[in-house]
Formats: sequence, structure tokens, C-alpha cells
Amino acid sequence: MRILTPAVAAATLALALAVTALPASAAEPAAWTVPDVEALPHDVYGDFVREGRDLFVQTYAHIGPEVADPEKRFAGNNLACGSCHLQGGTQKFGIPMVGVYADFPQYRGRENTIGTINGRINGCMQRSMNGKPLPDNSREMRALVTYIAFLSTDIPVREKIEGRQTPKFTPPDRAADPVRGEQVYAETCAVCHQDDGQGIRNGEPGDAQGYQFPPLWGPDTYNHGAGMHRVLTAAAFIKSNMPLGTTYDAPVLSDEDAYDVAAYINSKDRPVKAGVEKDYPDLSKKPVDSPYAPYFDEASAEQHKYGPFQPLEEARKKKIAELKAKKEQDAKAAN
Ligand code: HEC
Ligand code: HEC
Repeated sequence: MRILTPAVAAATLALALAVTALPASAAEPAAWTVPDVEALPHDVYGDFVREGRDLFVQTYAHIGPEVADPEKRFAGNNLACGSCHLQGGTQKFGIPMVGVYADFPQYRGRENTIGTINGRINGCMQRSMNGKPLPDNSREMRALVTYIAFLSTDIPVREKIEGRQTPKFTPPDRAADPVRGEQVYAETCAVCHQDDGQGIRNGEPGDAQGYQFPPLWGPDTYNHGAGMHRVLTAAAFIKSNMPLGTTYDAPVLSDEDAYDVAAYINSKDRPVKAGVEKDYPDLSKKPVDSPYAPYFDEASAEQHKYGPFQPLEEARKKKIAELKAKKEQDAKAAN
């Protein structure tokens, strides 16, 4: 049995007090911890996790459109997973991978079915990376999954952790304004992403070295079916993470500025994804800011792209309630 000396007792009491003094938010879901890739031993597992990490942060050098082996050109642009999943997928609210593995399989509205982590990765491959799916059993897919699973070490299956995705973004009660957004862009973003939005490459075109500052529109970035092409998703990401170095707890942009600059970026041309009209077989599951047809309601394409989004969200809730009531009535009538 452990004997409490006065010194240990005092320390234990101080610890107990410190724990109870923590703010309520820190006691929520599961705590934010990022396991250290470098601390892994150099064995088959540790090396494979590191291989997955390298694929994640230098995707362009392994499966990008400029790699030497044409068979490996799975991605259609020279971004990295880490262009959007910041700090190698370890930045809190920077769409991290920490805790993600524990949340799969999960319901996916875009396919209206239960999807796996592989399917989710390939969603980003075909949209954010404007490319082709990685075969399930390919070395690259297994390495990415192993890295993502490692980042969920000690998170119980189905447990939600605080810091996933981005913080909830409440848009201003008006349409986003790309003209105002252009000014925000010139003042805050162009220094890195450049006036023409094409960013700055690490090397020369063709050498598969990716970007120092990635492009936000044009031919070499995410396509029009990507999550980042939704104004609300982009605004939430930008507010908590841009300009580079920004963290969720000290945003630089106001809601208004993040909303308008997201609209400006997404008003520009980018690759078009084929077949998006088949997304969301149950249209009531389609996010109101999905900027392509068909829609759940009669609102214009313009409003689905730029808002205002509150009326769309209210109309959607009302329609879902009506559909549900009708279903119940039909069921009763059939009895
Ligand atoms: C252009 C930006 C962008 C790039 C590049 C990108 N993604 Fe994503 N990814 C997103 C967005 C946006 C989401 C959705 C976030 C949300 O649900 O709020 C997402 C979600 C995910 C999720 C689910 C996260 C969760 O919390 O459930 C996984 C897994 C994922 N991406 C993997 C990848 C991998 C692997 C790559 C590289 C092959 C990649 N992504 C490249 C933007 C990107
Ligand atoms: C100091 C340089 C810098 C500034 C300023 C900056 N960014 Fe970024 N941005 C980056 C880098 C670098 C990345 C990729 C993440 C990485 O490599 O760590 C990025 C990634 C992004 C992405 C996701 C990747 C992509 O290609 O779409 C978006 C969207 C984005 N930035 C928007 C903005 C907006 C909007 C602003 C202005 C409010 C802004 N950034 C300001 C450096 C910057």
C-alpha cells in the first residue's frame, strides 16, 4: 500500500484542486492529444506510419500528376493532403486527422450509405485532389490509413473529440459578397497565394515538388465538387486557420471577412468534377451550400452558392418535417 507523506498528500491535493479548477470545456468529449510519429521505433509499423505521414504532407511527390511513374499519378493536382489538413493533420480545428479513425465507418450523406475511412480518403482524392481513387489494397492507401489510425491512438471507437473538423461557423445573415471578398483577399491573402490565386511553387513545373503556397483557384487545385468549394466550409476553415499561423482560438478575420473572401475564392474557375448530379441521392441530406444542382428546394443556384443560407436551412427543416408527417400519415392510412 502507498503511504501518503504530508508532502505527497499536499501535492495530491494541489493536483486535485488543479483538475477541478479546469474550465468546463476541457472536461468535454475526449482530450486533444497528438501522438508523436518520431517517437515510434524504426520497425515495420513505425516506418509504415512515417511513410503514410510523408504521403500526407508531400502527396505531390508520391502520387501527384508530375511523378515519374505514370501508374502512380493518382492525384490530379499538386496539392498535398496537408494543404488543407494542416500540420500534417495535427492542427486542432485545422480539419485534423486526430480522432478521425475512431469515427469510421460512418453515415455519409453524399452517398446516403455507410462509408469506410478508405472511401472518405478517396472522396478527397477525387475532389480536393481532383484525381482518381487509390485502390483499397494499394501500399499508398494502406500507408495513409495507418497514419490516420496512428493519429487516433487511444481514442475509443465512436468517441467524438473536440478539435475535429473546424469550429462551427455562423454566417452573417446576408449573401456573401465576392466583391468585398476581393479586397480582403488583396489585403490578407495575396502576399502568399498571389494576386492571381496561383500560389508559389517549390520548384519548376513538372518536377513534382508541389507548392510553398498552394493555388486557391485555376487548373491545379480542388475541383468544384470538393468540400472547400462550399462557401460555409471554406469560410469556417479560413476563419480559424488563415492567414497561415492563425489558430482557432485567435482568429484574424471577422466572420464577415472570412465569409466574403471564401465567396471570392469560390467565384473563380476551377476543375469541374463529372457526375456530381448523382451526389446526395436523398436530397434532403444535401448541405444548403452545396453549389451544384439538383437542389432540395426551388431557391436559385446563386443562393445555394452565396447565401443567404439561414432561409435555406429553415426551408429545409420545414420540408423535412412535412415529408416526415406525410410518411406517418401514409403509414397510418395503409394500416
Ligand atoms: C483542398 C482541401 C483538401 C485537401 C487537399 C484534402 N482534403 Fe480531406 N477534407 C477536406 C475538407 C473540406 C473536409 C471536410 C471537413 C468537414 O467535414 O468539416 C475533408 C475531410 C477529410 C476526412 C474526414 C475528416 C473527418 O473529420 O471526418 C479525411 C479522412 C480526409 N479529408 C482525408 C484526406 C486525405 C488523405 C487527403 C489527401 C489524399 C485529403 N483529405 C486532401 C479538404 C481537403
Ligand atoms: C503566410 C502565408 C499565407 C497567407 C497570408 C495565407 N495563406 Fe492560405 N495557405 C498558406 C499555406 C502555406 C497553405 C497550405 C498549408 C501548409 O502547407 O501548411 C495554405 C492553405 C490555404 C487553403 C487550403 C489549400 C488550397 O489550396 O485551397 C485555403 C483555402 C487558403 N489557404 C486560403 C487563404 C485565405 C483566404 C487567406 C487570406 C485570408 C490566406 N489563405 C492567407 C499560406 C498562407
